[in-house]
Amino acid sequence: MQTRVLTGITTTGTPHLGNYVGAIRPAIDASRRADVDAFFFMADYHALIKSDDAARIERSRLEIAASWLAAGLDPQKVTFYRQSDIPEIPELTWFLTCVAAKGMLNRAHAYKAAVERNTVAGEDPDAAITAGLYMYPVLMAADILAFDAHQVPVGRDQIQHIEMARDLGQRFNHLHGGDFFVLPEALIEEQVATLPGLDGRKMSKSYDNTIPLFAGGARRLREAVMRIVTDSRLPGEPKDPDDSALFTIFRAFASETETAAFRQALLEGMGWGDAKQVLCERIETDLAPLRERYEALIRDPAGIEEILQQGARKARAIATPKLAALREALGLRSSSASATAGASSPRPVGGVKPQKMPRFASFRDADGNFRFRLFAADGEELLLSSAFADPKAAGALQKRLKTLGSAAVLQVKPLCLLLELEGRPVARTPDYADESARDKALLRLREALGQLATED
Ligand code: TRP
Repeated sequence: MQTRVLTGITTTGTPHLGNYVGAIRPAIDASRRADVDAFFFMADYHALIKSDDAARIERSRLEIAASWLAAGLDPQKVTFYRQSDIPEIPELTWFLTCVAAKGMLNRAHAYKAAVERNTVAGEDPDAAITAGLYMYPVLMAADILAFDAHQVPVGRDQIQHIEMARDLGQRFNHLHGGDFFVLPEALIEEQVATLPGLDGRKMSKSYDNTIPLFAGGARRLREAVMRIVTDSRLPGEPKDPDDSALFTIFRAFASETETAAFRQALLEGMGWGDAKQVLCERIETDLAPLRERYEALIRDPAGIEEILQQGARKARAIATPKLAALREALGLRSSSASATAGASSPRPVGGVKPQKMPRFASFRDADGNFRFRLFAADGEELLLSSAFADPKAAGALQKRLKTLGSAAVLQVKPLCLLLELEGRPVARTPDYADESARDKALLRLREALGQLATED
């Protein structure tokens, strides 16, 4: 089974080299694994808690999207979207708010720290603290629970939030008597590289010591590198690589051989000016081609928008049926829908006619190969498999689809959808009349796959 891994990026800043080495690069590497179903999103609702500067948030959303795409994120493989394009997230936030213990939120680190600062300053404990800050952990729980994420890669400072998401999911499951949510786990990257900034402290926007990743081009990068603080040793004097931010940054980009050579050169007295030159060139080797992609993306905001809208459709194909089931469990079903409620209604209890299920139908095609179709419970054709010479291979694929369920990777093409395994298409939908028909079919396909996974 694939593991669903989900991460949010708050859209308040411009990505810097530390974000690239510590978050963007490792997350994109991990998203390429066949056993990972990655969800990356821009937490722009969370950004509103930190900033009321609309222009800055708008700019940041664009820069972050372009940076991740330029760095190699594949929006076909990964589900890449903006939080604010998913209305199910605020809706779920409210459902979770109504099961959240206020006492738990009182204990959230970020809120407690703000109260502490007020107390020390002799102010009212809640001075200038918004309810947004207070509710931050519930919004974050909704981000995670809406998609049944198994793992959430986060820094240590976020562990408490994942624990709260588990707590809220568990409470809801318990109160409403069902397995509504997967309980997520925090994935703590012990090895995550933290890059030092210009002054040697951790590279961070709040220390104002960052090196921009793409913004400002090669020139801004070079200017920043030239400002990295070094000691006052002169050219010819041996330098200590292990006490040098410059060397640590170099190592984050270089191979072991390159690193060893640079270490040797510093020990042998290479001047800091030359060392900065070497560092610049090494970073440029990696980043120059990505920067070109970044600049092309930034010049085409409509193109980025289209990618994000596709991502939102993929994400909502999961969140919409989930919220429908939650509404029903909460007693919020619309009266007209109750007569026709189909697949998303709760499991039938004794006496109720069992639902029809989606089914596979196998056949041999004109070339003698084995194929199958997947039909929805109402008989609509949803998928046609590729051709297999061996009937066992076709059978094995049906089994895989049953275990994958709605975690199957679906590529959104202009008029159809492709189902992929290990990066290769193995089945496709019919062609639909237009994008809107395709998007509706995406919902039905996700639902049918989800039903298959619950069979037996
Ligand atoms: N709170 C996270 C941070 O500041 C960002 C975030 C929002 C997030 N929602 C999330 C991270 C859901 C992981 C999962 O870094």
